[in-house]
Amino acid sequence: MENIIEIKNLKKSFGSKKILKGLSLNLEKGQVVSLIGPSGSGKSTFLRCINLLERPDCGEIIYKGENILQGDFKTADFKGKLAMVFQNFNLFNNMSVLDNCTKAPIKVLKASREEVEEKAIKNLDLVGMGDFIKARPSQLSGGQKQRVAIARALTMDPDIILFDEPTSALDPEMVGEVLSTINNLKDLGLTMLIVSHEMDFVRRVSDKIIFMDQGKILEEGSPDQIFTSPKYDRTRQFLNVNL
Ligand SMILES: Nc1ncnc2c1ncn2[C@@H]1O[C@H](COP(=O)(O)OP(=O)(O)OP(=O)(O)O)[C@@H](O)[C@H]1O
Ligand SMILES: [Mg+2]
Repeated sequence: MENIIEIKNLKKSFGSKKILKGLSLNLEKGQVVSLIGPSGSGKSTFLRCINLLERPDCGEIIYKGENILQGDFKTADFKGKLAMVFQNFNLFNNMSVLDNCTKAPIKVLKASREEVEEKAIKNLDLVGMGDFIKARPSQLSGGQKQRVAIARALTMDPDIILFDEPTSALDPEMVGEVLSTINNLKDLGLTMLIVSHEMDFVRRVSDKIIFMDQGKILEEGSPDQIFTSPKYDRTRQFLNVNL
């Protein structure tokens, strides 16, 4: 399969604190990879380095055959091809659901407002939010807000969607609707990198699971491999506590 993105030996420190200690990861087209690991292990920092919200100290991010951390690669183009879904939705409360979904794509994609709106409405339908295009985020439940955020991500036509704990700010009864929305995206062939503490979900949805501990990848493998026969006690211990 074609690699969409290839990350090699990525490192990041904050001050004298080494947070990411040389991480490598390949994502193939259509693949769903989940990052799991204890709090503070660097999962969010890794996602933020991948989409350049943080500048990695060193390493390579190879996208379409080019290391985007080197030379004069237009990072704005790259950023536009990665969409991120955050724990706290990051919607604009003073705008309608539809405007939330179209604002960035109208700016970034070279497409007309009409085209972008059509696409946004299609994506809002897809996540079950088609009846809410005129609503404000403040009128929605957490699960609905997160589904709008997913529709917004889709409207960017991303190569990859990154999810950073998309359900951890939700009331328990809303977790399911968001997870099943993400599951539908897998069926559509989207490439996704997911950070989640929902172990049943990552086991079901992922093609590959990466266990991070203290800024390193301790082990990676298929869901069955990681959940039923992890190589390390550290992984087993984490899974026992989190299952
Ligand atoms: N901007 C920053 N400045 C300084 N330290 C930071 C910064 N961002 C993250 N850190 C530190 O980096 C470490 C890793 O944090 P990170 O948020 O990536 O962990 P995480 O695996 O996402 O944890 P959680 O499961 O709690 O979300 C933590 O010790 C955190 O305090
Ligand atoms: Mg985090």
